Amino acid sequence: MAGDASRSLVCNIALVMLVQVAQASGWNTAPRKTVRHDVVKEVKRFSKPKVFNYTTLRLDEDGEALYVGAREAVFALWTEDITVEVKDAIVWRAPLEKKMDCVQKGKNNQTDCFNYIRFLQTFNHTHLYTCGTYAFQPKCTYIDVRNFTLNKAAVEGGKGKCPYDPSKGHTGLIVDGELYSATLNDFLGTEPVILRNLGHRYSMKTEYLASWLNEPNFVGSAYIQESTNSDSGDDDKIYFFFSERAVEYDCYRDQVVARVARVCKGDLGGARTLQKKWTTFLKARLLCSVPELQLHLNQIQTIYTLNDGSWKNTVFYGIFQAQWADLDVSAVCQYRMKDIQRAFDGPYKVFRDQAQKWGQYSDKVPNPRPGSCITNSHRKSGYNTSLELPDSTLNFAKEHPLMNEQVWPVGRQPLLVQKNVNYTRLVVDRVASWNVLYIGTGQGWLQKAVMIGSRAHVIEEVQLFEEAQPVESLTISKRKRLLFAGSRSQVVQIPMADCGKYQSCSDCILARDPHCVWAKDQCIRTDTMTKTLTVLQDVEFANTELCQRMEPTKGERRTIKVEVGTNIFLPCWLISNLAVPKWLFKGQDLTKVTSTGYEIQPKALQISNVGVEHSGNYLCYSEEKHGRVLSGNYSLAVFPSLAVALESKSAGFSLSLVWLGVLILGAVVLSCLLAAVIYLHRKLREQLGKTSEAREASGSQATELILPKELPRGTTFVPSQTSSSDEKLWDAPSYYYSDGSLKIVPGHAPCQNGGSPSLNGTANGIPGQPLPTSVQSPTRLNLSNIRGANTNGYIRLQLGEEGADPFSEELRKKLKQRQMLPDANPEESSV
Ligand SMILES: *[C@@H]1O[C@H](CO)[C@@H](O)[C@H](O)[C@H]1NC(C)=O
Ligand SMILES: *[C@@H]1O[C@H](CO)[C@@H](O)[C@H](O)[C@H]1NC(C)=O
Ligand SMILES: *[C@@H]1O[C@H](CO)[C@@H](O)[C@H](O)[C@H]1NC(C)=O
Ligand SMILES: *[C@@H]1O[C@H](CO)[C@@H](O)[C@H](O)[C@H]1NC(C)=O
Ligand SMILES: *[C@@H]1O[C@H](CO)[C@@H](O)[C@H](O)[C@H]1NC(C)=O
Repeated sequence: MAGDASRSLVCNIALVMLVQVAQASGWNTAPRKTVRHDVVKEVKRFSKPKVFNYTTLRLDEDGEALYVGAREAVFALWTEDITVEVKDAIVWRAPLEKKMDCVQKGKNNQTDCFNYIRFLQTFNHTHLYTCGTYAFQPKCTYIDVRNFTLNKAAVEGGKGKCPYDPSKGHTGLIVDGELYSATLNDFLGTEPVILRNLGHRYSMKTEYLASWLNEPNFVGSAYIQESTNSDSGDDDKIYFFFSERAVEYDCYRDQVVARVARVCKGDLGGARTLQKKWTTFLKARLLCSVPELQLHLNQIQTIYTLNDGSWKNTVFYGIFQAQWADLDVSAVCQYRMKDIQRAFDGPYKVFRDQAQKWGQYSDKVPNPRPGSCITNSHRKSGYNTSLELPDSTLNFAKEHPLMNEQVWPVGRQPLLVQKNVNYTRLVVDRVASWNVLYIGTGQGWLQKAVMIGSRAHVIEEVQLFEEAQPVESLTISKRKRLLFAGSRSQVVQIPMADCGKYQSCSDCILARDPHCVWAKDQCIRTDTMTKTLTVLQDVEFANTELCQRMEPTKGERRTIKVEVGTNIFLPCWLISNLAVPKWLFKGQDLTKVTSTGYEIQPKALQISNVGVEHSGNYLCYSEEKHGRVLSGNYSLAVFPSLAVALESKSAGFSLSLVWLGVLILGAVVLSCLLAAVIYLHRKLREQLGKTSEAREASGSQATELILPKELPRGTTFVPSQTSSSDEKLWDAPSYYYSDGSLKIVPGHAPCQNGGSPSLNGTANGIPGQPLPTSVQSPTRLNLSNIRGANTNGYIRLQLGEEGADPFSEELRKKLKQRQMLPDANPEESSV
């Protein structure tokens, strides 16, 4: 127990530090907007029945085709609209006897013993080259893209080109008709290899030594044409990225580290030493750390190569993961070509037998320099190819593949660090002078971030898949301005930007999306604007003063009449996750008002036990940076007692209070029911495509409410917003289940028994929302339901039998969607 306590103390201290550093270095950059899967615009999805694992994407911009490698199938989709197959699919199954072999060798027939397409790249103008795991016996062949057929006659062994095990990492690329691949080379997955194959030259591979590759997990590769305009006559190089077990750390012998390795394209191996093995294989450690915290992210997940014209300006973006103080932490680090080159041009690392330690090699290095490509200076000395290199150089190269210097990321720290999220894939796009990152997560979301100086601003998070599943591949079509993502269940296509969701000038400017500008009265994409338009954009500073004269300063005021003693919520519709509410009462800052009973919550103002002193006008602004948008305008009238309120409406109303209470309760229940029914009805109609009609109907809501006192303690009423906005908007205050005129807020009584939100955010509810576990059928509502709900003060709705009626079905769906939201820890959603 004591151990547990001290452990949790350590964790808590770590957490506090984490939060502090987060604030200092742009950590936990909360996505400004959250877009759920059901409101993503212009989305297109592709999947086929009984086909899974749409893992491998290959975009052919010229051919307007997106090739998709899935489990036992390859598809050719139209880049404009991936629901259209431009050619009939290729079915490429592992034959039954191979599957039986696979099962006999102890592999799982449900998961392992299929042909998972893992490699799919352009070979030449007419052919693709593809490899699949083929029930643990990898195979490769060509696909003729003209008639989209698999060349069955040319099927060849895939050993070293494709993993046996579909769950293992691998990487590869085709350069001038030769395939460079890095994978595990055998059935057991114990023999790693970096291989060159195909083409006219003999194949080349890595030496099978732990000092070369030690249980690596390959994640990416890049071809850099360093021979272009090279003064030294340098060669082109192929870089590989992976994590592996480090050998060089004494105290952490099993520590995993991230690496970058490279080989030269012209390498032909040695004549005697290193025959048909790389003579130019060198590797260095890639760092992605937050030094203040001793946080080292060593598990590299993926790499994206951004090539901006000249190879010298190439930058690599890597995603790294780590477990840190029981948290999942993900980060993006950026590496410059010259920093990687510096490590490979620097000293080697060596194991000193005497000291039993690794250290920098400082003795004489053989000439020509081991691991170097053949350059002009080699040629001058008579070494035209690696075959002519002296044994001294080759032996040294074989013994010393590891460089002493580590490669630091740009700025010596990550660009972006997030906790409680697993980043899986990324692509980077250059838009004007901005670098925009699209990052997929383990839960099927896409984060879009823009780099502003050394900081990342996360513009939005978009839920790509309804069902939580990792984003397994990402690719962008710059020409079509589309992004494609592959997952276990489908491929999805979305536009690279949806500017239409920013409905005001402030919102558009604050978004800082380089793709979006405010023009006249809407937020539009830069590629759709015409030259003559005056447009506003400020990615760097997000200065909303640009908008000043354009924002509405007055919104419709809503009158609310309540009786003394009621608890009420006044919603404030914040325009983003980064906005905070700013309340004014009779024109005065509410935080400076002395009356008690106010509690400003992130999305509403709670006034408990309303008194006459609370009467007056309330304004709420959604405030972000220095801009504000009016988001709520209420006139609150408080009546001393119910009778007075009613008298003002209908004189001579003289039933006893008890009866009155019962009647009103009945009415409330009825109106709730009615609201629910209207809402569900409307929902259904919306689904039938009659959205506009439904909206018209919701345009004329009652703006006046009278609330009785006799309701059980803790029951709370919230006036709903008569908003013309789509109810399903990302930032719909969570207080609404419908757009009826009266709402009972479930579970929103202030938490009295110390139920603070869990720090590691394991609760999957939404703040201010009940965990929708016990919801009863609206048709079974009665008074006892209300009374019985004393703990949290809300009506429990319960769904009938699954599929029993369309209403509960709809409600269930709705609740499910709400559950799908990512953990929205208040700590994270405010900056
Ligand atoms: C393939 O998809 C299935 C179904 O979604 C999943 O269970 C399995 O883990 C996936 N396999 C691989 C190798 O990705
Ligand atoms: C896998 O094996 C089980 C039992 O051995 C069998 O019932 C099932 O049909 C097999 N599934 C496939 C896809 O071959
Ligand atoms: C492309 O490669 C395939 C497979 O090797 C070959 O049959 C075909 O002739 C090549 N096409 C061109 C245009 O070189
Ligand atoms: C596909 O086209 C190529 C070249 O036109 C041809 O050689 C091949 O036989 C065709 N395959 C099929 C199945 O028609
Ligand atoms: C290297 O190439 C140059 C010119 O290409 C040639 O003159 C020279 O003889 C070659 N040297 C060897 C050792 O093959």
